[in-house]
Amino acid sequence: MPDKDLAISQNVDLASVQLDYGAFRQLALNPNLSHHERIGFPDSYREGFEADIYDDICSKLPLFREREKTVVDIGPGCANLPRMIIDACAKNDHRLVLVDSEEMLRQLPDGPHLSKVRGFFPTNSEEVRQAAGGPIDIILCYSVLHYLFVETNPFHVIDTIVDMLDHGGMALLGDIPNLSKRNRFFASPRGVSFHQEFTGTDQLPPPPEAGPAFHKIDDGVLAGLVHRAQLAGCDAYIVPQPATLPMSNRRDDLLLRKP
Ligand SMILES: C[S@@+](CC[C@H](N)C(=O)[O-])C[C@H]1O[C@@H](n2cnc3c(N)ncnc32)[C@H](O)[C@@H]1O
Repeated sequence: MPDKDLAISQNVDLASVQLDYGAFRQLALNPNLSHHERIGFPDSYREGFEADIYDDICSKLPLFREREKTVVDIGPGCANLPRMIIDACAKNDHRLVLVDSEEMLRQLPDGPHLSKVRGFFPTNSEEVRQAAGGPIDIILCYSVLHYLFVETNPFHVIDTIVDMLDHGGMALLGDIPNLSKRNRFFASPRGVSFHQEFTGTDQLPPPPEAGPAFHKIDDGVLAGLVHRAQLAGCDAYIVPQPATLPMSNRRDDLLLRKP
């Protein structure tokens, strides 16, 4: 489907859309879509799960529950998660910088504690630093890294995030689809039942595809990003999501802590 149709079509098949920064800009404009669909998720993947996602983010970024921190959210989208983050930042007297396209950001509320930086990250990282106006304690990049992986240099993304973080700061690059984890799951008895329940058949999940995994993040990519973050000056960990999150069987989180 051409990008411009994403902004008007009543029937967007999200599974077949090649999502990237430009496609998200168009989805954000489409009045026929729910706010979950505007950020690329079918409603069933997010409806009723955002509070659990938010709690998981807070448990991994304990600084978020402290006071008067500076928080950057890269790719907040326009659904409920950034609204929860905006409210929590107001309550805890955090300064918040939201980084996304104009089309996404204009759908989010404004507030005295928050700035919006429009445009493609990490190209706009200097503007992000200026908007933060000082040391950055927390960087959140939730369900975004797999798009950055295709459109820009992921090592540069890690270098930039580590460089932007203050000492004592933390970054969560969350909800990363991991092809290796997915393959391991679908090769397991629980993965087979999951597939059969999802498809309503008694068929086995298709075996992993041979050959290059174009545009996919796998264990090797994650290990490389962990190593890169460590070299750049952060402790770095691949951490799981709680089983209550909708894609925990095939996604991982990358947590960075700058000593
Ligand atoms: C799947 S949505 C995730 C939204 C939100 N973090 C959440 O989990 O509810 C991905 C978001 O990342 C944004 N995005 C993708 N590439 C980006 C980039 N290079 N710079 C800034 N935002 C980007 C998209 O516009 C979209 O809003």
